[in-house]
Amino acid sequence: MSKEFKRTLITTALPYANGPVHIGHLAGVYVPADIYARYLRLKGEEVLLIGGSDEHGVPITIKAKKEGVTPQDIVDRYHNIIKDSFEGLGISFDVYGRTTSETHRKTASDFFRRLYDKGEFVEKTSMQLYDEEAGQFLADRYVTGTCPHCGNEHAYGDQCEACGTSLNATDLINPKSAITGNVPVMKETSHWYLPLDKWQKPLEKWILEDHKEWKSNVYGQCKSWLDMGLQPRAVSRDLDWGIPVPVEGADGKVLYVWFDAPIGYISNTIDLVGDDYTKWWKDPETRMLHFIGKDNIVFHCIVFPAMLMADGSFNLPDNVPANEFLNLEDDKISTSRNWAVWLHEYLEDFPGKQDVLRYVLTANAPETKDNNFTWKDFQARNNSELVAILGNFVNRAVVLTHKYFDGVVPAAGELQDVDNALINEIRKLKAEMTEALDTFHFREALKLAMDMARAGNKYLQETEPWKIAKTDMERTATVLNIAIQTCANLSIAFEPFLPFMSAKLINMLGEGKISWDMLGNFDIVPAGAKIGEPELLFEKIEDAPIDAQVQKLLDTKKANEMAAWKPEEVKPVCSFDDFEKVDIRVGKVLECNKVKKSKKLLQFLIEDGMGQRTILSGIALSYEDPSVLVGKEICFIANFEPRKMMGIESQGMILSAVNSDGKLVVIGPTGPVAPGASVG
Ligand code: MF3
Ligand code: ZN
Repeated sequence: MSKEFKRTLITTALPYANGPVHIGHLAGVYVPADIYARYLRLKGEEVLLIGGSDEHGVPITIKAKKEGVTPQDIVDRYHNIIKDSFEGLGISFDVYGRTTSETHRKTASDFFRRLYDKGEFVEKTSMQLYDEEAGQFLADRYVTGTCPHCGNEHAYGDQCEACGTSLNATDLINPKSAITGNVPVMKETSHWYLPLDKWQKPLEKWILEDHKEWKSNVYGQCKSWLDMGLQPRAVSRDLDWGIPVPVEGADGKVLYVWFDAPIGYISNTIDLVGDDYTKWWKDPETRMLHFIGKDNIVFHCIVFPAMLMADGSFNLPDNVPANEFLNLEDDKISTSRNWAVWLHEYLEDFPGKQDVLRYVLTANAPETKDNNFTWKDFQARNNSELVAILGNFVNRAVVLTHKYFDGVVPAAGELQDVDNALINEIRKLKAEMTEALDTFHFREALKLAMDMARAGNKYLQETEPWKIAKTDMERTATVLNIAIQTCANLSIAFEPFLPFMSAKLINMLGEGKISWDMLGNFDIVPAGAKIGEPELLFEKIEDAPIDAQVQKLLDTKKANEMAAWKPEEVKPVCSFDDFEKVDIRVGKVLECNKVKKSKKLLQFLIEDGMGQRTILSGIALSYEDPSVLVGKEICFIANFEPRKMMGIESQGMILSAVNSDGKLVVIGPTGPVAPGASVG
C-alpha cells in the first residue's frame, strides 16, 4: 500500500468556463475533494486544495461565437460565477486560478518548451479537416459526425458521448463543420505529438502493478486503454484561442487545451506559494491526488502522467479517485439542454441551505456507479434525516441543558452501562469513519457520522432525562453532560461534510479549536461552561419550494421539446382540381362530449348552416374538458366519407393542428363567419 507522506496536494478538475457549475460537477468532484481536504486539515496535516477555471479549448470559442462576444468575455463571466458559487457552497480552495493568467501562460509555455528541447515531441504533417468558408481547421468540438464505433450520428471530433470513446476528428464518418454546417475538405497541417507509445511500459508498471489499490472504475479504464496500445497524441491545434506554441514558425498554432489545462494545477500552485511550489510538486514526500469525473480519467491517468514522465522532475499522482456521473430526475445532466441544477441558482433559491445540498450530494454520491438526484429525495433527506435525526438530537440536548441547568454544562457523575455503550459506539464509529475517509468512501463515512446522531437519539430515548429530572438531578447531570459531549463529537465528525452546521454548533457549544484527534473524547466541553441559546440547525422544507424546482425542470423539458420540434415535410404537389374535391366548411359547435368507453373520441354536434350533423374526432386526449369548445366556430370537411365508430356515424372530419408536444388543437376562423361558409 501507499507509503508515508508528509503533505498532500489535492487537485480538482478545472471546470470549463463556458457555463456555470451544476450538481453533477459538485457530486463528482468538488464536494468529495472538499470533504477530503477538510478531513486532512482536521487531522492537522499539511494540505493544499487547488482549483481554477479551464479557460481555453473549443467549447469556449463555440459559446463565444454563438453569443457574438469574445472568448475572453465568456471566460471572464463564467470564471466569476463559478468562483463565487464554489465559495458560497464552502468549497475550501486554497487557490482558485485561471488558465488565462500570465503565470499559467508562462508555466505552460515553459513546460512545452522543456519537452520540446529534450526532443520529447514528434512533429508530424498530416491531412486534417478544414472548413473553407470559415477558413479554419476543424478539430475537437468544431466537427460532428457519425461515431465509427457505435454509429451515434452526433459524435464530436474529440469524443462520442454515446459510447464514451475518445476520437480524432478524422475518425468521424460524414463529418460536418459545427461552424458552418459545411462538409469539410482535407488540408495539410503540421502538429507536435506526444508519443504516448513511448510511455506505454512505464505507465503499465506504474498503474497496473504499483497502483492496484485504485478504484476499480479507474483501474479498469486505464487497463483497457493500455491493452489497446497507446498512440501518439497531438498536443497542438490550429486555433486562435489558447497559449501560442512557443516555437519558431508556429504561427496560428496553440497548445491543445488538454495539454495546458492540467499544467494549470501547477500554475495555480505557483500563484499561491511562488517558488515553494517545488515542495508540492517535486518532493517525493508530497502525495498528489486528482479529484475528477470519469470522463477525465484518461487525461489524468495516462496523458498528464506521460507529460510529467517526459519532464522527469515532477511527482506522479498517488491516487485518482474518479467518480461516475450524477443524473437529474433520471435524465443525463446536460449544460446545452439546460438540464441541471445550477449551483449559483441553488444558492439563491435556498439561502442558508448549503449543507443540505452538500449532504444530499454526498449521500447520493456516484462513487461506484451513476446515481440519481431528485428533488423529492432532497426534501426527504432534509426532513427525515437532517431535521429529524441530527437537528433533533442536538436540539434536545441543548434545550434540556438550558431547562434543567440554565445552560451550564453539568459535571458527570459515575457512568452506567448505557453511558459507556454510547461512548464505545461513538468511538467505534470514529474508527470506521476514519477508514472510510482514508479510502475515499465518503457516502459511507457520512452514513457513519449520521449513525453517531442516531446513537445520540437512542441514548436520550433510553435514559429519558426529562423523566429522571423529577427525582434524580445527579443522574440527569451525567446524562446531559454526555449528551452535550456527543453534540461536540458531532460538530467534529460532520465538519468535513456540513461545515456551516458544524461552525454553528461549535459556536453554540463554545468549543475552541477542534481536531480529528478529539473525536471520541467526552470532555470536549468542560463542566461549568455556559452554552449558547438553542438554535435550530436545520428546518423542514415544505412542498412549495420543491414543487417550484420540479416545475422549473418541467418547463425546461417543454422548452427543449419545442426547440427540437420541426414541422413535417410538405407533401407532393396537389392540383387545384384535386383540392377542389375537398369541401371545407365553417361550423359552430353546439355540443361536445367524450364518447363513453373510448379514450380518444369526442362527439361533436355541429350547426352547419343547413342543419345539424354529428362528427367524431380522435382528439379527446388533448381536451380534458371538451365543453370549452362549445360555442366555438371550427372548420370541418363536409364531404368526408361517413364512417361508423363505436356505433355512432361520423358525418365529416374536424380540422386540427398537432403541437410540438403531440397535443391537437381544433382549427377555426379568426373572425366571425356564418356556419356553412365554404373555406378555400
Ligand atoms: N475542463 C475539463 C472538463 O471539464 C477538465 C479539465 S481538468 C484539467 O472536462 F486537468 F485539465 F485541468
Ligand atoms: Zn460512439
